Amino acid sequence: MTISSRICFISLFISAVILGLNAYASAVDVSHDGRALKLDGERRIIISGSIHYPRSTTQMWPDLIKKAKEGGLDTIETYIFWNAHEPVRRQYDFSGNLDFIKFIKTVQDEGLYVILRIGPYVCAEWNYGGFPVWLHNMPGIELRTTNEVFMNEMQNFTTLIVDMVKEEKLFASQGGPIILAQIENEYGNIMKSYGDAGKAYINWCATMAESLNIGVPWIMCQQDDAPQPMINTCNGFYCHDFVPNNANSPKMWTENWLGWFKAWGNKDPHRPAEDVAFGVALFFQTGGTLNNYYMYHGGTNFGRTAGGPYITTTYDYDAPLNEYGSLSQPKYGHLKELHEVLHSIEKILTYGNISTIQYGNSVNATIYSYKGNSSCFFSNQNSTSDHTLKYEGVEYKIPAWSVSILPDCKKEVYNTAKVNTQTSVLVKKSDDGGEKQLQWSWRGEELFKTMQFGKGHVSTKHLLDQKVMNDVSDYLWYMTSVDLKNDIVYSHNMSLRVNGTGNVLHVYINGKYVGSKWGNYDTTNGNVYETKVKLKKGRNQISLLSATVGLKNYGPHFDLVKTGLPGPIEIITTRDDETITKDLSGHKWSYTTGLQGFDKKLFNPTSTISRSNDLPINRSMTWYKAAFKAPLGEEPIVVDLLGLGKGEAWVNGHSLGRYWPSYMAGNCSDENACDYRGKYSSEKCRTGCEEPSQRFYHVPRSFLNEAGDNEIVLFEEFGGNPTRVGFRREVVGSVCGTAHENRTMELSCPGRTVSAVRFAGFGDVRGSCGSFRKGSCTSSNDALSILLECVGKETCRVEASEGVFGATDCEEGIWKRLVVEAVCS
Ligand code: GAL
Repeated sequence: MTISSRICFISLFISAVILGLNAYASAVDVSHDGRALKLDGERRIIISGSIHYPRSTTQMWPDLIKKAKEGGLDTIETYIFWNAHEPVRRQYDFSGNLDFIKFIKTVQDEGLYVILRIGPYVCAEWNYGGFPVWLHNMPGIELRTTNEVFMNEMQNFTTLIVDMVKEEKLFASQGGPIILAQIENEYGNIMKSYGDAGKAYINWCATMAESLNIGVPWIMCQQDDAPQPMINTCNGFYCHDFVPNNANSPKMWTENWLGWFKAWGNKDPHRPAEDVAFGVALFFQTGGTLNNYYMYHGGTNFGRTAGGPYITTTYDYDAPLNEYGSLSQPKYGHLKELHEVLHSIEKILTYGNISTIQYGNSVNATIYSYKGNSSCFFSNQNSTSDHTLKYEGVEYKIPAWSVSILPDCKKEVYNTAKVNTQTSVLVKKSDDGGEKQLQWSWRGEELFKTMQFGKGHVSTKHLLDQKVMNDVSDYLWYMTSVDLKNDIVYSHNMSLRVNGTGNVLHVYINGKYVGSKWGNYDTTNGNVYETKVKLKKGRNQISLLSATVGLKNYGPHFDLVKTGLPGPIEIITTRDDETITKDLSGHKWSYTTGLQGFDKKLFNPTSTISRSNDLPINRSMTWYKAAFKAPLGEEPIVVDLLGLGKGEAWVNGHSLGRYWPSYMAGNCSDENACDYRGKYSSEKCRTGCEEPSQRFYHVPRSFLNEAGDNEIVLFEEFGGNPTRVGFRREVVGSVCGTAHENRTMELSCPGRTVSAVRFAGFGDVRGSCGSFRKGSCTSSNDALSILLECVGKETCRVEASEGVFGATDCEEGIWKRLVVEAVCS
C-alpha cells in the first residue's frame, strides 16, 4: 500500500466510523417546553405514523417503513401487544413478527425515530385490548385499578419490555431511536367508573413508569389529569383545540384517526384526504409539535388477534398505506406534500413569534415570524362557505373547511382542500381470468364424537363464562342432558331459549343441528336465541357450541363483559294461557374447548384432508384443502373467499385470520354523498354497501413458496361453496390525475403503463374519479388529444396551464384544474 492510498484508507475508515454513528451516534437528549418537543435542545415538529408490527410480516417491515419515510414521516409509533408475547403466564414469544426489537431496529436503519406505547393495555381493536386472558382468571385480580395482583403482573411485563429495549440500547437516551414511551392508554376516558381507586391507579402507573428510568419522556394519552412528569396527549379526529394540563407540556397528538376500523357487517369507512390534511394543518397552525397518524399502515388481524367483538380480519383503516402495504392515493401523496411544507418551516413554527388575525365566521390567519421571516396559515373552519381574506393588501380565497399554508406569507404553497395527487383505483386481478378452479379435498369436523357422549373435560353445576378457558380457541361446547319423562314442561309445543352474549351460537339437540344465532359489533348487552324444538319424552342431549369472534377491547371494565353463554338456558312450553319454564342453568354442564380438527392441526400442510369425491357445498363444520401455485410477480396477493360462509383460512399453515364473506354490509339508504367539508365521523363517506364486509384476505408473499406448491386449508363453520375461491394480485386498475392551475399533473401506473385515457378536461371539471364530466367552462384545445401522449408510458407529467391547453371560457374567480382519468394495464 502506498502512503497516499494508506492515508486515503485511514480517512475512509474515519468517515465510515462517523457515518456509522449516523443519526443515533450518541444519546439524543429528548426534552420539551410549553412550545415544543426538543431533540438535543432544538425545538422540532414531528410527523409520526402508527405501524403495528404483528399486523404485517417481518418481510414487509422494511418496505412499509421506507414508504413511511418517503411519505415524510420522522417517526413510527407502535403499541406492544402483551397477550401475543405472554400467551401463557411467564412463557414468552418474541419470534417472527412478534420480534419487536427487530422492528424497532428496522425503523432505526431507515433513520426514523420510534414512539413506544407499552400500555400494556392497548385497546387497538386487538383481542381483549392486549390483555392475556389468563390474567382475568388469576384469583383476586381486578384489571386496570389498584389491585396488587394486577399491578404486579403489569409491572412485571412493563419492566420486561423496558429491560429488553435497554439491553439493545434503543432508547434515545442510549443512542437509540425511541424518543417517547407511553404507559396505560386513554384511561382518562373511563377512569370515573373506577372511583378513587382509578386516580390512585394512574398515580401508581406514573410512579412505576418513572422508576424504570428510561431517560426519555413518558406520555399518557387522553389523561387530562396526568401526574407530572407524564405528558398528557390528545387522541381524536381533530386536536387543534387541545391544551395539555401542564404549561410546560408540548401539544402532542398521539392518535390522529385518519380512517376507522371495520366490524363484520359494516361498510368501509373512508376519511377524505382533504379532511385529514385540514386537521393536521389546523393542529400546526395552533402550536402543535407532534402529530401521529393512527394508522399509517393498519394491516391485518392474522389468526385470532382481532378484538371487538366482531372486528374484521382486515385492519386497513383507510390508511395511507393500505392493508397490503400499497400506496393509498391520493391520501399518501396529499399528506406527503403537507409534510414537506411543514418541515420546510419547522424553525419558524417552533421559534417564531405568533400573531393571529380573526376575520370572523371562523376564518383566521396565524402569522409566525422569526429572524425577519414569516410563515402564514389562513384557515376557514366554515363547513360550507368559501372566504376571501385580505392580508397585507392581497386577497386570498380560502375554500370552506380548508387551511392554506404560505411559507413566505405571500404565495400559497399548499391548500388542504386542493389535492394534486392522483387517485389510484386498485383492483384484484386473477392470472387466469378466474376460470381455473382449485381441486379441493375435504373432511367433516368430527362433531358427533363430542356430542354423542356429551362429556367434556370440565363440568360444573352452573354456566361458565367462556373466558374461564383462557381463550385458547374460539370454540366452547356447553353440553347437558335433560330427562323429560315425567316433566311437566314436556309437550308437543316446546321451545329452547338461550341467553347469549352476542357471540356465535350453534344449537344441536340429540346430535342434530337445530339452528344458529350471531350478533354484531353493537350487541354488547347480549342476545337471545329462541327456537321451537322437538325433544324426546326421555333423556335428551343438548349441545350448544359457542364461538367467540374476538374479545371486547374497549370500555369501562370491558374485561368483565361476559363471553359465551351466561344463561339462563330454558325449555319453555305454552299450554293454553300458561307458560311453563324449565331453567337448565343449574344443571350439570359439561364443557369441551375447541374442535377436533384444530386439535389434530388439520390446518398444517402435513394434515390428512383427503376425501376428493362428493365435494360438499354448503356443508357446515367442514375442512377443505387445495394445492395452488403462487401468482407471479411482486404485487400483493389476496385470496377471494366469496361464496364461503364463516371460518378460518390458512396458507401453508399460516393463519390468514377469520373469514366471513357471507356477512353483508348494510344498504345505502342512510348514506349521503361524501363531502369532506364538516366534521368527520366514522358514519361519513362509507362505501361497500350491500357487499360482503370482507371478501379478500391478505396472503403475504412470505407465506408462499414462490416456485413450488402451496396449500390452502379452510375450516368452514357455517357452510359455503369453495369452488369459487381463487388467488388474485392487487394492481392499479385506473388512475385519476388532477392538478390545479399552474401546477404539474403527474399520472403514474406503477409497474404498468397507461393503455387509454378515458377522460381529460381543463376548466371547472365536475364529478369524481370514475364519473368526471365537463363543468361550465373548458379550454380551447381538446384536452383529451393532448393527454394521449401519456399512452404507453408508466409515468407522465403535464402542466395544468392555459399555455398548454389554450385559453378557457371560465369566468373570473373560477378555480381551473386539469383532470384526467386513465386506464393502466
Ligand atoms: C382509541 C384507542 C386505539 C384505537 C382507537 C380506535 O381509543 O386508543 O387503540 O382503539 O381508539 O381505532
